[in-house]
Amino acid sequence: MTRLLTLACAVFTMTLVGCSESGSGDDTLTVGFSQVGAESGWRTAETESIRSEAEARGIELKFSDAQDKQENQIKALNTFIAQGVDAIILAPKVETGWEPVLKKAKKRGIPVILVDRGVEVEDESLYVTLIASDFIHEGEQAAKWLAEKTGGKANIAELQGTPAASAAIERKQGFEQEIAKHPGMKIIKSQTGDFTRSKGKEVMEAMLKGEGGDEINAVYAHNDDMALGAIQAIEEAGKKPGEDIIIVSIDGVRGAFEAMVAGKLNCTIECNPLLGPMAFDAVEKALAGEEQPKRIVVETTIYDQSIAADVIDSRKY
Ligand code: AHR
Repeated sequence: MTRLLTLACAVFTMTLVGCSESGSGDDTLTVGFSQVGAESGWRTAETESIRSEAEARGIELKFSDAQDKQENQIKALNTFIAQGVDAIILAPKVETGWEPVLKKAKKRGIPVILVDRGVEVEDESLYVTLIASDFIHEGEQAAKWLAEKTGGKANIAELQGTPAASAAIERKQGFEQEIAKHPGMKIIKSQTGDFTRSKGKEVMEAMLKGEGGDEINAVYAHNDDMALGAIQAIEEAGKKPGEDIIIVSIDGVRGAFEAMVAGKLNCTIECNPLLGPMAFDAVEKALAGEEQPKRIVVETTIYDQSIAADVIDSRKY
């Protein structure tokens, strides 16, 4: 049962019938977390951050892994609503299709906090806040770095993230906006690798073998996992990743730092997945009725090979 509903029950003591405590039956907060899946090292780190922060705050977390399916996320949200959780944290797979279930949560007085990716809804009051990095800026940073590294001349293979996910749409947008300033930089191949290492490898293999594959001298991957898959494909094709083909990606996971130290990846833009503390701050503020900004931007940092070895030991994920 939500806090607001609990309050209503307390006020209308004469009509208490039907009002019962949810979950634990005490003052413990119950929060539902709907996660997309476990497609990347980044996402696993995000899940862990939310789980451990819930534990640290004594919050009961109902966790649902959607196995990469939006329909499973919608089912999970409906279940959380039926269970009467106090709040919901949602990491939405794609931008659209959330309105009906978010309206239902709002009607039941359950605040929804979005983490990591955004949604497209007409009524922004359907969620409390979005806590995420600025994906457009990440794409711009990747393009700027690549322009500098290549002197503004590159035939780029782009490995896109999950179709219709805000992370993929905006990382593409930011990158394209920036390379438009450099006539010598062209995306000559672009395909989705679904944010996974296996698909990144498969797509890169096909790109290298396909028409014009020999001309590729740069890769822009929307996440590190796809870049790591691409590195394998490039090596298997007899080329040197990081030298014959310059590679820039996004996330900043440990594997990317290892690849940079090994000279196989050139640059990663960190997108911090440790969102647990901010997400539960937002939950607690929402339940206390505090106003919050609609958008909380998580800072990004750029790391390239020149500093990878110095910072690798301090990486938390
Ligand atoms: O939405 C964030 C992206 O989703 C991360 O960059 C990626 O690794 C993940 O799966």
